[in-house]
Amino acid sequence: MEQELHRLKQEAEEALRQVGDAAQLEAFRVKYLGRKGGLLSGLMRQLGTVAPQDRPRLGQLANDAKQAVEDLFEEKKMLLTASIVGSATGAIDYSLPGRYLPYGKLHPVTQVMEEICSIFEGLGFAVAEGPDVETDYYNFEALNIPKHHPARDMHDTFYVTESILLRTHTSPMQARIMEKQEPPLRYIAPGKVYRCDSDITHTPMFHQVEGFLVDKEVSFADLKGVLTSFTHKMFERELALRFRPSFFPFTEPSAEVDIACVICGGKGCRVCKRTGWLEILGSGLIDPEVLKMVGYNPDIYSGFAFGLGVERIAMLKYGIDDIRLYYENDLRFLSQF
Ligand code: PHE
Repeated sequence: MEQELHRLKQEAEEALRQVGDAAQLEAFRVKYLGRKGGLLSGLMRQLGTVAPQDRPRLGQLANDAKQAVEDLFEEKKMLLTASIVGSATGAIDYSLPGRYLPYGKLHPVTQVMEEICSIFEGLGFAVAEGPDVETDYYNFEALNIPKHHPARDMHDTFYVTESILLRTHTSPMQARIMEKQEPPLRYIAPGKVYRCDSDITHTPMFHQVEGFLVDKEVSFADLKGVLTSFTHKMFERELALRFRPSFFPFTEPSAEVDIACVICGGKGCRVCKRTGWLEILGSGLIDPEVLKMVGYNPDIYSGFAFGLGVERIAMLKYGIDDIRLYYENDLRFLSQF
């Protein structure tokens, strides 16, 4: 019996070493430690058949052997669970990096708007914001666009009432700021504007940044200088600028500003419609009529103003070919910025 005990213990230890997974472990438990058919339990039962004087000693030996195998069994069980947990099938693997929660980002239009503002702030401009719901007076009249002026047609205005509307541009901020302050003034006014228009280059709501400067002896050269250094910073290279004569009722002279095509560098491509140029903003010297309406003397003061389309600049900067992508809220698009 003593020998048999010894042999069985060694056999069990060896068998346990071979166990590689939970199923094998369970088979081992049934075979050696099972209450009914288990080999060790069977041996314990045989104690009844040995001579009474040997019983205490053998009983002790049998108990020790069983305990030793049970301890090894528990140890193996722990090792196996730990490695299951550590493997791909397990619930927790402490060596895996944490899972990131998806986090929000600023909309590309907001990012570009902030970038535009910070470039102008670097040039000494202060930032001001005004209402989206505007009066006819600030949106048109104060900008030298009287009732029935043909320029009103271009604005595709959303009217709230006859005299209240959604601003069609950020230029009303020129009049709003000028009538409250005396020159010198150097402001930019970013914000939303609205026009009843929708296709691949127009959305009914879009963003502009208005900029203007009023002081003594402000000339077109100042406008050129400011816009040139802005574009170079914005597009991170020294793109050529072209000032094309244009017309706005609130500036005289007026110019639309083009930059050399960011895609082809001026050679001509699909994006610039083979012209080599891309329009980025409207600008000019503030019309003396506008200065008079806010009570400035145009013989003393002059100024320049410009208005740029934020979506347009962002499209050029990032090579986006459809303005509507900005407002479809498709994360595959938005998360790239
Ligand atoms: N407000 C004009 C527009 O929306 C742009 C502009 C602003 C032109 C300032 C000249 C001066 O088209």
